[in-house]
Formats: sequence, C-alpha cells, structure tokens
Amino acid sequence: MTVDRVAIALGTRPEIIKMAPVIRECKRRGLNCDLIHTGQHYSDNLDQVFFDQLELPEPDYHLGVGSDSHGQQTAAMIAGIEKILLETEPDALLVQGDTNSVLAGAIAASKLDVELGHVEAGLRSFDSEMPEETNRILTDHAADYLFAPTAESKEYLLDEGIDSDQIHVVGNTVVDAVHQNRSLAAEKSDVLSALDLTAGQYVLLTAHRVENVDSPERFGNLLCGVRNTARLLDAEVIYPIHPRAENKLEEFDVTVPDSVRLVEPQDYLDFLKLQDNAELILTDSGGVQEEACVLQVPCVTLRDNTERPETIEVGANMLVGTDPESISDGAITMKTRSGAWSNPFGDGDSAEQIFDILYGAPQTGLLGTAKGDS
Ligand code: UD1
Ligand code: UDP
Repeated sequence: MTVDRVAIALGTRPEIIKMAPVIRECKRRGLNCDLIHTGQHYSDNLDQVFFDQLELPEPDYHLGVGSDSHGQQTAAMIAGIEKILLETEPDALLVQGDTNSVLAGAIAASKLDVELGHVEAGLRSFDSEMPEETNRILTDHAADYLFAPTAESKEYLLDEGIDSDQIHVVGNTVVDAVHQNRSLAAEKSDVLSALDLTAGQYVLLTAHRVENVDSPERFGNLLCGVRNTARLLDAEVIYPIHPRAENKLEEFDVTVPDSVRLVEPQDYLDFLKLQDNAELILTDSGGVQEEACVLQVPCVTLRDNTERPETIEVGANMLVGTDPESISDGAITMKTRSGAWSNPFGDGDSAEQIFDILYGAPQTGLLGTAKGDS
C-alpha cells in the first residue's frame, strides 16, 4: 500500500453530504486522508448530525471559524487551511461545490505545492451577484483537476479557456449519496409519521439563498406564492428552515402563511424521505434541485437562474423566480409531469471515478500509481 496523502476540506451541510462518498472512497482505498472542517456551519443540525448519520470520521482538524463577513470568514479559513497543508504536506486537496470554505481551500492550495481537485466544477449561473458564482469561478481557475458533473459543465470550463486535459466529467457525487442512503431512509426514517404526513400529499419547501431571504420583499413574495400553491393543490407545505432564513423572518417580521409548517433543519435520512415522498418540491437550493431530479420528484426552483440547467432540460425542474403568480403557475405545470425523466448526473460512481483519475494511469495520475494499486 502506498502512503499517499489526500486532504479534504469542507465546511457546510451540502459539502458534508456530497463529500461523504468521497471520504468513504478515500478510506476504502486505504489512503491517508486528512479531513479539515472549516467550521463555517457549526449548529448541530447543519453539521454534526451528518457526520453521525453518514458514519463519517471526525475531522482531523477543525478551524472553528464560525459565521462572519465573507472577507473575515474566508481569510480565517485560508490561514487555517494553509497552516495544515504546510504541516501535513498532502499531494492533493479536494474541495466540493461553491461555498466560502471551497474558495478558501482553493486559494490556500494554489499558493502551495499542493494539487487542487474541484469536485462539482464548471457550474455557472451567470449571475455575478451570487457569492457562490464568484467562489465557483475562482476555484475552477485555481484547480488542477476539475471534476465536472456533466458534459455541459465541461463546455463552460472550455469556454473559459481551461485546458481540456484538466477537466474530467465524472457525474455528481450527490447521486452516490442518494444511492447510498435512499433505501436506508425508506427503511429507517419515521419522519412521515413523526410529522403526521401522508406520502404524496404534501409539498416540501426549502429557501435559504441570500438573494431570496435577505430581501423582505422577495421573501414575502416567495411565501405568498407558496401559500397560493398550497391553496391550489390543497396541500400543506413543510419548510425545514435554514438558520439564515429563520433569522431573516424574525428580523423582517415577514408573516408565514398558516399552510406553511416550519420545522427544524432535518437530518439527511429524514430529508431524503421527505423529498422522496413529496408531491412537489419548491426550492432555491442547489443540492435539492439535483436530488429532486434523481428521485424523480417534480421541482420548482424559486430563482431567476440556475447553475443546474440539466434538470430543466430533462423536464425535472422549472425556474419561476419569486413572483407569486409564476410560483403557483409553475407548481401546477410541474405537478402534471410524469417523473419519467433521465438523470443527467451520472450513475452514482463519481467518487470512485475521482480516485481512479487521481491515482489511475501512471502517465496522467497525480501520484503515478496504477488503478487498484492502493
Ligand atoms: C452557505 C453558503 C451557501 C450554501 C449554504 C448551505 C457561502 C457564501 N454560502 O450559506 O452557498 O448554499 O451555506 O446551507 O458560503 N448559521 C447558523 N448556524 C450555522 C451556520 C450559520 O445559525 O451552523 C446562521 C448564522 O446566523 C449565519 C447565517 O446562518 O450568519 C448564514 O451562514 P453562512 O455560512 O454565512 O451562509 P449560509 O447562508 O449558510
Ligand atoms: N438537506 C438536509 N436537511 C434539510 C435541508 C436540506 O439534509 O433540512 C440536504 C439536502 O438533501 C441536500 C443539501 O442539504 O443534500 C442541500 O444543502 P443546502 O440547500 O443547504 O445548500 P445548497 O445545495 O443550496 O448549497
């Protein structure tokens, strides 16, 4: 066995969920894997619950940066990650997605002799106002290995002048995560009875994006559209509320309609089961758009753009923004969709492909070991 060393940096709920298959694969191959948690998310229900449920090892390093302005938060993470990379000297650092934790990892690795692998490379909303768009673009341009989920994301990277040899279309690790946990959720989660819900008779809502919840007007419109949807479908709406959105509801004094039930952020198995059994999903989340598509549940996206256009192209998703009428019209349209679309995000072996690429063919692999050596 080689003594190859990989570092993995993560910091938020979606990164923990989508990196879980990568961490598992790293361990399965017997590689040394240093897990770095930035601490961007720290509330138990956005963080520890996923480590416990997905049976992930505790982080080897925890920076505990917490919440702050983007600059302060990202700077603290860069300094912390740099120190660890200098100490542990890994061959590569892997990051996933588009959060400030990802950008911090990208900057730290790119200044050192550490190769950077970006999992979920090449997503573009073409909305430069989104903090995530800046993070994605900068990370992609710092990366040595760009693990794009689809041919479309590869095209965006090529259009920006990134060398084709660096781009690998491997699907999205969200599919690995869904495959690894869907039947477990069906079997183990009692969330439907705990929340007194009947399968197929409720709408699931998530909304936490800055552009939606940090504006009282947009957040109010969004909830108004959700209320109209509930009325038209004669269904209750379940809204596991992200702390950012919860804080903003209090700050703005926005009224939550009676048909919308706020619940705590859910653990992964409960949330998967809630998605799998919903008649419709309304969301502004990136990961939820993908999961709804994989689970064959119709999705309405409460945004003006999406960096997941593949979900719309296959018929699984519709963009409606936050205008109340557009939301309820979109909900009615999507309700009639059959759910028989194809999944554009791969077969659930993305983590395996990522390590095959890093450690695969001697000429191209990061460490020059043959596939299956380690
Ligand atoms: C971050 C990501 C976003 C991602 C989301 C996943 C950035 C710029 N944004 O947004 O892309 O979709 O995570 O959920 O990286 N808070 C808590 N507990 C926590 C974490 C945050 O209560 O564990 C509250 C704090 O009041 C904090 C606010 O939520 O100020 C926002 O947290 P932050 O990490 O800055 O951004 P998110 O909105 O979570
Ligand atoms: N999720 C969860 N519990 C919840 C809401 C979401 O486990 O109450 C999961 C969801 O299944 C998906 C991920 O969190 O895998 C999406 O994270 P989020 O919406 O916070 O961030 P985004 O994907 O928009 O960056």
